[in-house]
Amino acid sequence: MARIIVVTSGKGGVGKTTSSAAIGLGLALKGNKVVLIDFDIGLRNLDLIMGCERRVVYDFVNVINGEATLNQALIKDKRVSSLSVLPASQTRDKDALTKENVGKVLEELGKTFDFIICDSPAGIEAGAMMALYYADEAIVTTNPEVSSVRDSDRILGMLASRSRRAELGLEPIKEHLLLTRYSPKRVADGEMLSVEDVEDILSIPLLGVIPESQAVLKASNAGEPVILDTESDAGQAYQDVIDRLLGDTVDFRFLQTEKKSIFSRIFGG
Ligand SMILES: Nc1ncnc2c1ncn2[C@@H]1O[C@H](COP(=O)(O)OP(=O)(O)OP(=O)(O)O)[C@@H](O)[C@H]1O
Ligand SMILES: [Mg+2]
Repeated sequence: MARIIVVTSGKGGVGKTTSSAAIGLGLALKGNKVVLIDFDIGLRNLDLIMGCERRVVYDFVNVINGEATLNQALIKDKRVSSLSVLPASQTRDKDALTKENVGKVLEELGKTFDFIICDSPAGIEAGAMMALYYADEAIVTTNPEVSSVRDSDRILGMLASRSRRAELGLEPIKEHLLLTRYSPKRVADGEMLSVEDVEDILSIPLLGVIPESQAVLKASNAGEPVILDTESDAGQAYQDVIDRLLGDTVDFRFLQTEKKSIFSRIFGG
């Protein structure tokens, strides 16, 4: 049975799409069949980050409206054949998605894929609720700052009350905390919340800590999810996330400021 995972946040611009792309590709590289769905109707970011924007012919709303089959709309990743993307439409037809028709699409995808990753739009309105409704698991993406943590807390309330699992009284959605854009130096300077602070407030298991990294912007400009940049700190941190999602216990990295050697303290760098 497919694991339906929503990547959600409440607050916008925290790294949901970046994380969806990295995690989707990372799971596929491990041999899993993965589909990434862009629920951010009207914005279409995921296909850019994945580098498949020129191949978009049909989209999620076309499938919902019966104008294309799933087979026609799914875009196979050019790097990993077990990964597909279902892009969002560029029209503002946000009301096209209903629980019923989204449910049908997910059911169909569940027959073929091991993982269905839903990249949620920001906020707590209809689009975000649709993205989380059918989830089995949620990756609650949070930056280490108060407004982001507060909005993540709000999303945790929604996961526990507005999801299908909540409605039917099933086992609750499994929650994971993904802390993104983490800067140990800014934590040390008292400008940002620490991992422990965020864990204390949200009280959900920590899935990963992704450092603030130049590699992310470089990767998104190139349409190559950052997990492919195996030299980069962010790429390695996402790799750890994949291992944890697949059941391994992996130590957390990139939580401390780098201790500068006496050489670099004297000569700079
Ligand atoms: N670890 C990181 N280091 C540096 N920049 C990052 C990191 N993660 C994300 N970003 C940057 O933050 C911005 C927002 O990222 P992204 O689009 O993934 O967020 P989002 O949560 O999907 O946004 P939206 O709510 O608009 O959908 C982008 O410019 C991205 O490059
Ligand atoms: Mg996004």
